[in-house]
Amino acid sequence: MRFPESFIQEVVDRTDIEELVSRYVTLKRSGSNLVACCPFHSEKTPSFTVTPAKKMFFCFGCHAGGSVITFVQKAENLDFPEAVEFLANRAGLPLPKESDVKEEHGVPRRRILDANLEAAKFFRACLFDEELGREARDYLFNKRGLSEATIKHFGLGFAPNQFHMLLDYMHGKGFRDEELVAACLAGQKNGRTYDYFRNRVIFPIIDPAGQVVAFGGRVMDDSKPKYLNSSDTAAFKKSRQLFALNFAKNCSSERMILCEGYLDVIALHQAGFESAVATLGTAITPEHARIFSKYTQQVVISYDADEAGQNAAEKAMRILGDVGMEVRVLKVPDAKDPDEFIRKYGADRFRSILEESKTGFEHKADRIFSKYDLSLTSDRIRATSEICAVIADYPSAVEREIYLSDVSKRLGLPTDVLKNSVEQIRRKRARDYKATESREAQATLKNFRDTVNPEAAQHLHAAAAEEAVLGLLLLYSEYRTIVERGEIALDSTCFLTEFHRRVFEAVMELHRSEYGFRFEFLDERFTPEEVGRIKRLEVERSKLTNNGLEVFRSAVNALKNSKEKETAAEEDLTARIERLRSKKQEKQHKEG
Ligand code: UTP
Ligand code: MN
Repeated sequence: MRFPESFIQEVVDRTDIEELVSRYVTLKRSGSNLVACCPFHSEKTPSFTVTPAKKMFFCFGCHAGGSVITFVQKAENLDFPEAVEFLANRAGLPLPKESDVKEEHGVPRRRILDANLEAAKFFRACLFDEELGREARDYLFNKRGLSEATIKHFGLGFAPNQFHMLLDYMHGKGFRDEELVAACLAGQKNGRTYDYFRNRVIFPIIDPAGQVVAFGGRVMDDSKPKYLNSSDTAAFKKSRQLFALNFAKNCSSERMILCEGYLDVIALHQAGFESAVATLGTAITPEHARIFSKYTQQVVISYDADEAGQNAAEKAMRILGDVGMEVRVLKVPDAKDPDEFIRKYGADRFRSILEESKTGFEHKADRIFSKYDLSLTSDRIRATSEICAVIADYPSAVEREIYLSDVSKRLGLPTDVLKNSVEQIRRKRARDYKATESREAQATLKNFRDTVNPEAAQHLHAAAAEEAVLGLLLLYSEYRTIVERGEIALDSTCFLTEFHRRVFEAVMELHRSEYGFRFEFLDERFTPEEVGRIKRLEVERSKLTNNGLEVFRSAVNALKNSKEKETAAEEDLTARIERLRSKKQEKQHKEG
């Protein structure tokens, strides 16, 4: 079966690459990457690298590489659809039905937004309908403690427990079934269309421009799934959207609060903390991090207090840190999440713990210290080595000094001793890094027998030029756009080797598609070996320092020249054969 791109994207978004890969090998942190001994070939020093920010892996030894889907294909020996299914099951995502697969193609974004707005009005009317909305109002007012003002502010609604109510209403407003399916307001099964959200409280998701782009719907009891969310549509990409950003963006340039749940955000806004936002049921992505950096300087992460929430907070810390955000962490005491905390202790208490929220380092140190009993020598040794490894991560010597003096008090050890240990870890990392570098250099020596692109051996120059062009196209969407617009003339006929031509065609086709290019979409079109090669084109290119437009332009020219040369050489050969043949004929003629 062919999965819609939105589904593949969802599967990838919901998969934690670190957690997935950890089931097969032991990962160690190395800067912003994780390294391990490669599960796909035998080696003693680790050259297998995972980049969590990109959800990609690559082995500098055997050149296996790609997305979480490629990883599962190789590790579990599955084909593409099986691997997607495997990951979907792990993430608890139901597989799309054959009939859902016919998707949103052809319905313009504007039409989806119009449908969403109309639907939001419908849901809201249902919530405030005397009969229909009684249970939902009771849930929101009484069980969740929301005021009427808050409910209206967020445009909350209710989807009645019926299969055709929204559909009938929307038909009356001139919307067709295909449009409602494309907007993810309706589902289809056995040729029948039905309301997608039923018997759920509705949370409209509004983008910063004030448009209703999607919905989340929560059950009012303990049944599962707790939430149903719109899948990605032409108007909505989950990985780029933050709940309540439409309000939060106006209220605080200094600080924003990042929570896990819709209801945490709503409770915080009601209590006066209008800078709270949440992701939409997915882990925070680098795209989210860039959005934060547009609006604010500091993000306070206030996730659920349980283990899962705190682990997610550490990941979020890293992703936000990577874009240069100042990050703090607030773990609410004696409550499972910010919503419960506010209901138990009130807004003032929340304000005071917010002021005391911890820096990233304090949070990590607290987590380590709380695991151990420092009165036991063995525990103290373990805590010391873990905390030193954390301190060694910080590139700034000043920061390291500050943290060292902090923890030396808590551990009751002299600062010098700790400092030695930290510096030792840093020296070892530097050595490991150098070793990886030289392995990388060796790995770039091309394989003799190239099974992925056998034609490369006959067209060395052309293949090298093709690799440069593809590497740049894979790395930068700007160049894809330039090619698409024809600002630099490049099409598939410029490529001599068939493999590279296929890569070019796939990348450009995906770039033009509704979802844009994402590396994991290649998994469906190429074998894991081929995906590994494509990853390698990208990785090798990314190691070069100058990848500017002029470089791209000259790579394209080099590609065209080498093609011309090869063609000229071929013409030469034909001409020569022709000449020989006519000579032979002449001779025969004479002899005859
Ligand atoms: P929570 O389970 O913490 O939900 O999930 P919550 O919003 O705080 O709700 P309460 O307080 O338990 O009633 C956090 C977020 O994860 C997403 C939703 O965005 C939710 O707000 N989620 C959760 C889903 O998308 N689907 C689910 O089945 C569960
Ligand atoms: Mn909650």
